[in-house]
Amino acid sequence: MKVLAIETSCDETAAAVVEDGRRVLSSVVSSQTDIHADFGGVVPEIASRAHLELFAPVVAQALSRAATAPAELSAVAATIGPGLIGSLLVGVSAAKAYAWAWGVPFVGVNHMEGHLQAAFLEDPALSSPMVVLLVSGGHTMLICMQDASPGEYLLLGQTIDDAAGEAFDKVARFLGLGYPGGPAIEKLARNGSPDAIAFPRGLAGHGFDFSFSGLKTSVVRYVRANPGVDLADVAASFQEAVVDVLVTKTRKAAAEVGAKAVCTGGGVAANTALRERIRHACQQDGRAAFLPSRAMCTDNAAMIGATAWYRLQRDGPTPLDAPVDPNLKLPLVRLR
Ligand code: KG4
Ligand code: ZN
Repeated sequence: MKVLAIETSCDETAAAVVEDGRRVLSSVVSSQTDIHADFGGVVPEIASRAHLELFAPVVAQALSRAATAPAELSAVAATIGPGLIGSLLVGVSAAKAYAWAWGVPFVGVNHMEGHLQAAFLEDPALSSPMVVLLVSGGHTMLICMQDASPGEYLLLGQTIDDAAGEAFDKVARFLGLGYPGGPAIEKLARNGSPDAIAFPRGLAGHGFDFSFSGLKTSVVRYVRANPGVDLADVAASFQEAVVDVLVTKTRKAAAEVGAKAVCTGGGVAANTALRERIRHACQQDGRAAFLPSRAMCTDNAAMIGATAWYRLQRDGPTPLDAPVDPNLKLPLVRLR
């Protein structure tokens, strides 16, 4: 069963063909980063217009790379939320039109559930229960998954203010490093010392929730008070503060639920320092670490195609008049 999936929730126009929720036959991602770079962040109206220009060639390429004709598809899926409303509307409207024209079901997919499922695309034999650290531009969550099939997710903790990626983007903008901030800070941090400045660890020792807005303010205050500071030291020390708190809490959460494996997802999981520290911590704790490839951590449509396959078996098709939801939440059950 082949699913064509479309992802347009933010600034990547992506399409993929995924077979049986597991085999990625093609995955095409067209990034708009260059278009938004001059503005220091994603401009929603520009993003929607770019999706409109890009989705047809991206879908055509995904089908041709997968050597798949529309008649071979069993469903068309698209990210239905969360994300930018205009961007979501382009992908969802296109997917619904394709589904209607080709006479196959449409499946609306939760973008965050896509990030959670991404790991299983690269390692279907992941052991459970597992703790997933989901760190993107809009979310920071610790989730316990009992098995691979989508259902309800146990929420262990989440950010009470900024997401980790948001903190990277805001600090990068303040330091004049441009957009997207995560890769820019990671690059600059290579020339700095992570121990140079002791930035605060938000909510350290307080359960599994996170807070990053105090850290961001602390960076701004420090740089204003020390105009001659080496910005590479600032970047490295800031990155260290984020990674430290993410890894410490993930480790504690994994111990609390008796997780066999720890997994990461979302754009910040592409960060090398975070990946190395998670790997190291898991080695020490005797747990399997699964770190999806960087391409699978950042936004892509393969993860949407995989999730759609499961959701179609479980919940059936999504009605063609279903709206997009910019604030769509994961189906969560909170621990406690
Ligand atoms: O998952 P994603 O591609 O889009 C959302 O769903 O938000 O995540 C984007 C976020 C941005 O905040 C970006 O700065 C961050 O992921 N990011 C990184 C790195 N690559 C992307 N943060 C730290 N280090 C990286 N290498
Ligand atoms: Zn994402």
